Parts: sequence; structure tokens; C-alpha cells
Amino acid sequence: MILPLLSGTSIPQLGFGLWQVEDAARVTETALSVGYRLIDGAAIYGNEVGMGQGIAASNLPRGDLFVTTKVWNDRQGHDSTLRAVAESLDRLKLDRLDLCLIHWPCAARGLYVDTWRALIELRDQGVISAIGVSNFNAAQIDRLTAETGVTPVLNQIELHPRLQQAVLRAAHAARGIVTQSWSPLGGGRSFAHPVVQALARRHDASPVQVILAWHLALGLSVIPRSTRREGLTENFAAARLTLAPEDLVALAELDSGERTGPDPDLFG
Ligand SMILES: NC(=O)c1ccc[n+]([C@@H]2O[C@H](COP(=O)([O-])OP(=O)(O)OC[C@H]3O[C@@H](n4cnc5c(N)ncnc54)[C@H](OP(=O)(O)O)[C@@H]3O)[C@@H](O)[C@H]2O)c1
Repeated sequence: MILPLLSGTSIPQLGFGLWQVEDAARVTETALSVGYRLIDGAAIYGNEVGMGQGIAASNLPRGDLFVTTKVWNDRQGHDSTLRAVAESLDRLKLDRLDLCLIHWPCAARGLYVDTWRALIELRDQGVISAIGVSNFNAAQIDRLTAETGVTPVLNQIELHPRLQQAVLRAAHAARGIVTQSWSPLGGGRSFAHPVVQALARRHDASPVQVILAWHLALGLSVIPRSTRREGLTENFAAARLTLAPEDLVALAELDSGERTGPDPDLFG
């Protein structure tokens, strides 16, 4: 399953993330052998070298993979972003990214538009195929579009059953922007919920698969993390689970507005 991007390229709907993954080479190689093609990394995760080693060890054609990384907060600004992306590519041992995101807006720093201009240049040079943001609100996205004429193809945001982000999802949809869910399992806080448990029993699936199938049914891109082959395999198989419209209605009731991470309007 792939989602079209405003750039004219497309992104696999289901991928895996590498936050807090120490053994990124092994996890990346394992995930690629399971069947994943979308890899979500970031400079701040400190494991781009391992991520690149895992990619190389897979022996998959570069064109089959979708590689994302992100510009960290203290690298924002035009020249600093150009250098940060070059350093990421060097660590990854790649000459091109499929997607590069501004990791957090860090509004108080006042640099995200300059950062965006640098990403536009890199896109125009072919170094990055598509450019996007993470943890931005709709007003910040509209400022990027108004000041540069270029709209992010994707916004990666905290999104799980307890934080369903209906308003921001609708804003993205109205602008043609893909929503990508980070921490899609929400810290495991919904695994034992009676609605999730009942759906797992009805579909002969695990609670995690029910939650991931919910993301996919909403048309989101989703990047769960597991360091275990069993977990990676279980999560990848969630793509085969189709929830019914009434299942989505039942899961909508879990929304409590509860974050696991920081408030993006205050962070950075
Ligand atoms: N843009 C941002 O600001 C931002 C912020 C946070 C995260 N992210 C991205 O989003 C990705 C995913 O978010 P996340 O890493 O916070 O968490 P997550 O994917 O929601 O959850 C990961 C946790 O769930 C467990 N898990 C995974 N699959 C499981 C399964 N099938 N059964 C039981 N437990 C399972 C993992 O343990 P095991 O390893 O033991 O399976 C791990 O403890 C990150 O890796 C990163 O790429 C981005």
C-alpha cells in the first residue's frame, strides 16, 4: 500500500522507526528482510550509521527503499541545514534521501522558514526527493507555503488511539498533505482497552495489529518500532487486517487527547 505525495513520488503506508534503537544495523536489516521498505530515521537518534549499514546489508536496490531522516532542532537555519543533511547522507552512505523532515518547528527559535528554504534547494538539486515537516501545526505549515510557495508533502505527528488528531488530519487532507503517525502504539496504553481487546478477538488478531490496522484504515502512514523480529513481523502483518466501518466508530471513542510526548507548540 502506497500513498501519493505532492512531490509526485509516493510513500509506503507502513514502515518502521528507529528512535531509541541501539542496534540499528540489525533491526534495519531484519525489518527489510520481513518486507518493510519505509525506514524512519533521524539525526538525533544517533544511529544513522547503523541504519545505513542495515540498508547496505539488505542488498535491496536503492530504488525499492524509502529512506527518511530529519533535521534536528539545533541545526535549524539555512547553512546549518545544508551541512546537517550532508552529514546525514555521509553517515547513511547514501547520495539521496526520499524524504527529509524538519523534526520540530521550534517556533521560539524563529528559524523554520530558513530551514525550509534550505530543504527546497536540496530538493531542487535532487538530493532529497520530497520534503516535509514533523510536529508542525496548520498555521506553521501555511506560513511555509505562503513564504516559499512550497507545501510540505507530509507532517509526522504524534497520533494513536488516545490522541486521534482529527482537526490536524482534516487540515492536512485539505492541503493534500500525508499524515504520518509517530508513537502509533501510544506507549501501549490502549492495548488492554476493552474495545481493542474485543476487536482483536473478533478479527483473530493481536491488539497491536488492531491499532496499526486502524491507522492504515484512516489513510495514515505509520512507522511502528520494534527491535524484535517477532514484533516487526506481527506489525507488518497488520496490513492484511481490514477493519469494518463500525470498528472505526468504536475505536474513535478511545480519543482522550492524551499525549505521550511533548506539546509541539512548546518544545524546542
Ligand atoms: N517526529 C518525532 O518527533 C517522533 C517522535 C517519536 C517517534 N518518532 C518515530 O516514530 C517511531 C515509532 O514511535 P515510537 O518508537 O515512539 O513507538 P511505537 O512504535 O508506538 O512503540 C514502540 C514500543 O512498542 C513495542 N512494540 C512494538 N511492536 C510491538 C508488538 N507487536 N507487540 C508488543 N509490543 C510491541 C516496542 O517494544 P519491542 O521493541 O520490544 O517490540 C516498543 O516498546 C519512532 O521509532 C520514530 O521513528 C518520531
